[in-house]
Amino acid sequence: MHLGSHTFNRPVLYLAPMDDVTDAPFRALCHRMGADVTVSEFIASDALIREVEAIQRKWQSAEDERPFGIQIFGNNAESLCQAARMAESLHPDFIDLNWGCPAKKIAGKNAGSGMLQYPDMLVSITQEVVRSVSLPVTVKTRIGYNEASKPIVELAKRLQDIGVQALSIHGRTKAQMYKGEADWSLIGAVKNDPDIRIPIIGNGDITTWEIARDRLAAYPVDGLMIGRGAIGNPWIFQQCRALVEGRDIPPAPDLAERARVCEQHFLANIAFKGEHTGMLEMRKHYKAYFKGQLNIKQQKLKLLTSNDIQEILQTLHALQEMEDQNNEQPC
Ligand SMILES: Cc1cc2nc3c(=O)[nH]c(=O)nc-3n(C[C@H](O)[C@H](O)[C@H](O)COP(=O)(O)O)c2cc1C
Repeated sequence: MHLGSHTFNRPVLYLAPMDDVTDAPFRALCHRMGADVTVSEFIASDALIREVEAIQRKWQSAEDERPFGIQIFGNNAESLCQAARMAESLHPDFIDLNWGCPAKKIAGKNAGSGMLQYPDMLVSITQEVVRSVSLPVTVKTRIGYNEASKPIVELAKRLQDIGVQALSIHGRTKAQMYKGEADWSLIGAVKNDPDIRIPIIGNGDITTWEIARDRLAAYPVDGLMIGRGAIGNPWIFQQCRALVEGRDIPPAPDLAERARVCEQHFLANIAFKGEHTGMLEMRKHYKAYFKGQLNIKQQKLKLLTSNDIQEILQTLHALQEMEDQNNEQPC
């Protein structure tokens, strides 16, 4: 697939945008582990003018983190076009429009997946955004609004016709939020439609490389987008990268490797956000890094409660020295 000036001759691995998770340090880590494409956390188009500095921080990316997309959301063409132009001035590789967020405060205002109720408006706003920038515009959305309305196949064709250059589809409806299982059959229906030429990226519930393998075998999408499965487990990109490149799959990390990479993430977070915020914001990652690891309760508690950088580093070092007491690697 092509994304701006980048070409891939195999399924592409995306790190899914996740608000408050996929900040610059985490994206850089996943990129290093094998994610091909990263996308910023979403930014409200309306907030742009008010909070330029905070937002530019969210949009900051390492020079080698490419292709990189900036994601925006909103409910009207004027502010979205303005946001897209601001995003463009920071030289990402593409602008991603979010028509998939189901959160009440967003979808309730007809932004995100709320706009799936109004496909005509969704298409016309997207078209204005496409026209307002010279960078490629991609869209991330869901299969539909609710059980009774799943217009994704038709919508994909209309988005392709107005110049959208790639489409990421989360296999749930807005009404499902994050419940139930992602339905990949409709993602497959879009990809298999003979009129569809743009790259289709499948998203939803890929938490292991084996699931990635099975999805690719069943649905010949151009790329896979991985979100929650990468939290505390950036190694999923190492494994999936080996999968799509036809290499042997590296084993799941042991305790020492988890602690080593967690330390790198911690240090990058502090360097990017400052000591206080960087330290506190790491707390949401520890549980996932050490999920299922046996006999490290005390160390986990220390990581989650300590306000002392040296103590946290000592704990992470101690974990690297411990004998791994897990007979089986958790997946
Ligand atoms: C904490 C969290 C934050 C998210 N923030 C965003 C976001 O900013 N933009 C977006 O398009 N999707 C967002 N999503 C949705 C994910 O990108 C993805 O579509 C969804 O989690 C399904 O993929 P997964 O099963 O691999 O996690 C978020 C999901 C989570 C769990």
